[in-house]
Amino acid sequence: MTTTTTAIIDLDLPGATISRHVYGHFAEHLGRCIYGGFWVGEDSPIPNVRGIRSDVVSALRNLQIPNLRWPGGCFADDYHWRDGIGPRDQRPRMVNSHWGDVVEDNAFGTHEFMDLCELLDAVPYVSGNVGSGSVQEMSDWVEYLTRADDSPMAALRRANGRDEPWRVPFWGLGNEAWGCGGSLRAEQFASLARQYATYSRNHGDNDLYRIAAGASDADLHWTETLMRSFDDLAADPAEPARPFQAVSLHYYTMTGTWSDKGDATEFSTDEWYTAMARAQRMEELLTRHSTVMDRYDPHRKVGLVVDEWGTWWNVATGTNPGFLYQQNTLRDALVASMHFDAFHRHAERVVMANIAQTVNVLQAMILTDPDSGALVLTPTYHVFAMNAGHHDASALAVHLRGVETRTVDGSELPLVSASASVKGDSALISLSNLDVDTDRTIVLDLRGRDVVGHEARALTASALDAHNTPEQLDAVAPNAHDGVRPHPRGLELDLPAHSYVTVSLDLQ
Ligand code: AHR
Repeated sequence: MTTTTTAIIDLDLPGATISRHVYGHFAEHLGRCIYGGFWVGEDSPIPNVRGIRSDVVSALRNLQIPNLRWPGGCFADDYHWRDGIGPRDQRPRMVNSHWGDVVEDNAFGTHEFMDLCELLDAVPYVSGNVGSGSVQEMSDWVEYLTRADDSPMAALRRANGRDEPWRVPFWGLGNEAWGCGGSLRAEQFASLARQYATYSRNHGDNDLYRIAAGASDADLHWTETLMRSFDDLAADPAEPARPFQAVSLHYYTMTGTWSDKGDATEFSTDEWYTAMARAQRMEELLTRHSTVMDRYDPHRKVGLVVDEWGTWWNVATGTNPGFLYQQNTLRDALVASMHFDAFHRHAERVVMANIAQTVNVLQAMILTDPDSGALVLTPTYHVFAMNAGHHDASALAVHLRGVETRTVDGSELPLVSASASVKGDSALISLSNLDVDTDRTIVLDLRGRDVVGHEARALTASALDAHNTPEQLDAVAPNAHDGVRPHPRGLELDLPAHSYVTVSLDLQ
């Protein structure tokens, strides 16, 4: 069965810029993300540069990965950065109590992370320890990373082999302070965030963009408390002296509950739709948190950073429950595409987002085989690649008409999700058909500029649970899509059931 939907897009009405940083990533000392994922050590038979896997770097460079958040997550509030500098064989060990209760040898520390960012050409986003670290410790870390002269921390960095300071714009103040980051009340954390932010100083021309650990899900009180904490600092309401520049938000998609989240690959049709409905919730969360922020910051100077998002399923059978390893199917790809549609629509407020996590943990871009070392690109990776044209482009409103809905858990889920952007003489339209069975025809009603060329790509598979493995690397991979035809109002597009399609346009 085929139904027709219309997407009206005014190509000459560009909106807010979609920061490329909403395509950001997250790498925690968790399971096989850092160790085995990024870091194999210099003596590994796996090709590497100074211990960092070359194949992982090259796959992520192909995505133009804009930033990388590290070292956590919950781990960040247990992490003492001085343990991760100096000769590797002399670094102290610690217990990674959040993730598998394993011993961490600190082989991957500050210099290794900054080396990784340089190899990736990605901007570092360092999450500082508020939960168990001191203000002095955080202040010293910023100095160590970013100061040029012969200050004590700059001298220590030099003694460890790095002369020039690094550039570190993105600075996290704690993580999930309401939970693993200290079990604090919003009011307590707001005070701490002001204090830690004050001592996270700008050195030279390195301007920190400080991000205070934010809310989970619909905890509007947390966001409101952080925003209100600026009040007494606003000498000039037009330019308030804010100690931090952004607040974060975490939201994970699962079909069950925290104790039984649902299976990554074995799911029913109902669970497919539940996943889509839960992913759709990101739109509502962004709207609600933004509304709170607008009240205190009507000119939208404070950023909302969704620095953890993605699917969280039950761990894969036979793997360490503390390592959060899960497979990644076509369903995960569509969850990702829906999130990007929401981020694009909220481009004015959402300045950054980081999917959890890049390699071998939760909704990963890359899975590596622990025995053979083989590298697998997931369906989610392909969504990031197909959407690269949205980086730093101007958002375009997409008005969808005639979209059918399905009732999921008492709410209506629209069965098509879409977003678009324009950059110079190119536009990119992203469309997801969430419907398990029904192919759709979409009329792209393109107004305001002449379209002189188009190219489409599609990501789909015959099975909803299709996924990539070392044995079948391309079970879900994008293909050229020839289902696009001229139409009196622009173009007509075939959008197969359970598919993700991008259409790039050449404009005049
Ligand atoms: O991404 C895994 C964990 O999820 C992070 O460490 C934590 O911040 C969140 O609860």
